[in-house]
Amino acid sequence: MNVLLVGSGGREHALAIKLSQSPLLEKLYIAPGNPGTEKLGINLSIKTNDDIVNFCISDKIDLVVVGPEVPLVEGIADKLRAHNIPVFGPNADAAMIEGDKSFSKWLMEKYNIPTAGYKAFSKDEYDSSINYLKTHSYPVVIKASGLAAGKGVSICNTFEEAKHIIEDNFNNLIFGHASEKVVVEEFMNGEEASVFAITDGENFVCLPAAQDHKRIGDNDTGKNTGGMGAYAPAPIVTDSLLKKVEYKIIKPTLKGLASEGKKFVGCLYCGLMIENGEPKVVEFNCRFGDPETQVVLPLLEGDFLKLLYSAANGNLDRDAVKFINGSSVCVVAASKGYPDKFEKGFEITGLNNFDNDSEIIIYHSGTKSDGNKILSNGGRVLGVTSVIKENNLKLCKQKAYEAINNIFFENIYYRRDIADKGIK
Ligand code: AMP
Ligand code: GLY
Repeated sequence: MNVLLVGSGGREHALAIKLSQSPLLEKLYIAPGNPGTEKLGINLSIKTNDDIVNFCISDKIDLVVVGPEVPLVEGIADKLRAHNIPVFGPNADAAMIEGDKSFSKWLMEKYNIPTAGYKAFSKDEYDSSINYLKTHSYPVVIKASGLAAGKGVSICNTFEEAKHIIEDNFNNLIFGHASEKVVVEEFMNGEEASVFAITDGENFVCLPAAQDHKRIGDNDTGKNTGGMGAYAPAPIVTDSLLKKVEYKIIKPTLKGLASEGKKFVGCLYCGLMIENGEPKVVEFNCRFGDPETQVVLPLLEGDFLKLLYSAANGNLDRDAVKFINGSSVCVVAASKGYPDKFEKGFEITGLNNFDNDSEIIIYHSGTKSDGNKILSNGGRVLGVTSVIKENNLKLCKQKAYEAINNIFFENIYYRRDIADKGIK
């Protein structure tokens, strides 16, 4: 099978590793890929959705796997399906579950899916949003409704803060079009976890639950980021809790989407808040999570390509993969200053200490090649990941941090507490 993987981050590096292990694979292309995926397939310097579709037609691609949300929300899957090219990823109308938070909240309300109470306001409803916030309890959560790379969410402790965020969105459009509508949401207490449901639109299979670390600082302090590290499995998601997630959240969501004429094929990412054994939805994403994918995929054995291909073709093979009894911890090595301003272009050394076949996997995300050198080229630079074949997060964490101690670049920054919640 010839497979084209779309994307360039750590998540795509993890997907590329798993896809390349399949006996079904003939050729793997990654568009545009990164220096990590270069070793697993052919990186293509094509970027636009139209160029990708044209390549798939000319080079007889049997399956396209789309990593990031932006091409999905822009309709890459619709275009591929129009040419009968199987694609793992939803059409644009189903990708709205991530691309438009006000739609996602509306859907959850209509289909009784547990989540925080909310109200949505558009730019021309400034006055009513302010009046609403005057009487709301605090903290309150305000979210830009559109795509904002995980950075559009503010937790406001006072009315003044909330007003400021509303103005940043409506008057200054800090997230561009994404700011034209906001969702004002009740604050939920609890612990977070991420569950991926692989689905053909009707049937689904859940992968081991993971926990992300969204804040930049230790002990969940500071700004929200794309994710500073992850571990799996997340012990907070017990078997009985997962059953609840399946029956109260995933099943009705897929059914609801299908009833609205927006059948969802791909990976439904469920961001959950768990309090007293009850799960509520924080957010849905229309794709695999980053960095959760980097810890979930190493815990799968079997044929991952077969799983995705079967989902893309509307005939999910639930037995294509199994989960190993193991643990995985990923520590993101970032550029100091991220998620705000940071410098890049520093040489990364120490990568040759690892061969990516053993218990340590170094995922590339914001890197670039420069001759024989690898340079930092983004906010989140590497995902330093340890995988062990026993359920022991403490040991797994220790191995991940031993590994990151062997990697250097000038402004490296990472959290020191990845997996601590799971260990406790
Ligand atoms: P989101 O992009 O919607 O996942 O939000 C980013 C992060 O903000 C989440 O991972 C949570 O840590 C936090 N968050 C979002 N919504 C809520 C909420 N209603 N209550 C508490 N925390 C929230
Ligand atoms: N790790 C959060 C996300 O992928 O959205």
